[in-house]
Amino acid sequence: MELSDVIRQRRSIRAFAQRPVPHHLLLELVQAGALAPSASNLQAWQFFLLTDPQLVKKVDLFSPGLSGKPPVILAVCSDMDYALAHGSPNSEIYGCMMDAAMAAENILLKAVDLGLGACAVKSYNDTAVRKLLNLPSHYRIEILISLGYPEAPPVPAVCGRWKKYYIITNGRIGMNQTECFELLVYMITSAAGLRGEPRIYGPLRMAEASERLCRLMLEEQPGNQGLKELAEIIHCGKGKTTSDEEGFYQMLSDAVDKLVDCM
Ligand SMILES: Cc1cc2nc3c(=O)[nH]c(=O)nc-3n(C[C@H](O)[C@H](O)[C@H](O)COP(=O)(O)O)c2cc1C
Repeated sequence: MELSDVIRQRRSIRAFAQRPVPHHLLLELVQAGALAPSASNLQAWQFFLLTDPQLVKKVDLFSPGLSGKPPVILAVCSDMDYALAHGSPNSEIYGCMMDAAMAAENILLKAVDLGLGACAVKSYNDTAVRKLLNLPSHYRIEILISLGYPEAPPVPAVCGRWKKYYIITNGRIGMNQTECFELLVYMITSAAGLRGEPRIYGPLRMAEASERLCRLMLEEQPGNQGLKELAEIIHCGKGKTTSDEEGFYQMLSDAVDKLVDCM
């Protein structure tokens, strides 16, 4: 594909098809990452490809910013022992991080070229992900990249709205304990983002969790029109958090109004 087309077509993908990505394509992605420019050509980066569904699911759970159930997660890390031994103080402060960002962009663009979708994800719980990956302490996770085949061709972004959506695959009766637990994990790890994440993400994650709770309740009461409308109000307005605070607040006011109607 033409480079300019690749650049134009790249969007953050937040809904993935549930089919595996062939191994050779994953290797092409890592190779593209490793060809990125690197400060002092230090190349302290390390790429970890997570393909085991159980591990991917666990990392997903502890990453509130990760959406769309990707089959693969790539962790771009830096080997800080190597950076300190071979680099300069700047390598530790920002060099490695910038290198990782360059590598990540190469990977995001290569993904488009290969017909894949991806999203850079910085909102993850570092402690939990490190533990799940069993990462030695001298590795620093710089960024996660969700990867897979996009569920639908990406559409141009509108006003920065998040293109997240849900597919409810089965109509269970009764609140699903696993999903309740996952929601709990999402809420607590979101709150744990207090340090390091922008403050406005708090209300965003609360809105996100509220929508998820609505969807869970709707599985029990599919005919509940008020709940359906409430979920839609939140779904349509939550993406305004960073781009349109007034609009985001209006969505919350509309949601409160709908809740009163639901009583
Ligand atoms: C450093 C970095 C961190 C990001 N972290 C997240 C994240 O945690 N969750 C998410 O859904 N998107 C994340 N994104 C994706 C941005 O939200 C996205 O690039 C932006 O909204 C523009 O949309 P586009 O990529 O479709 O052009 C991140 C992007 C960058 C560069």
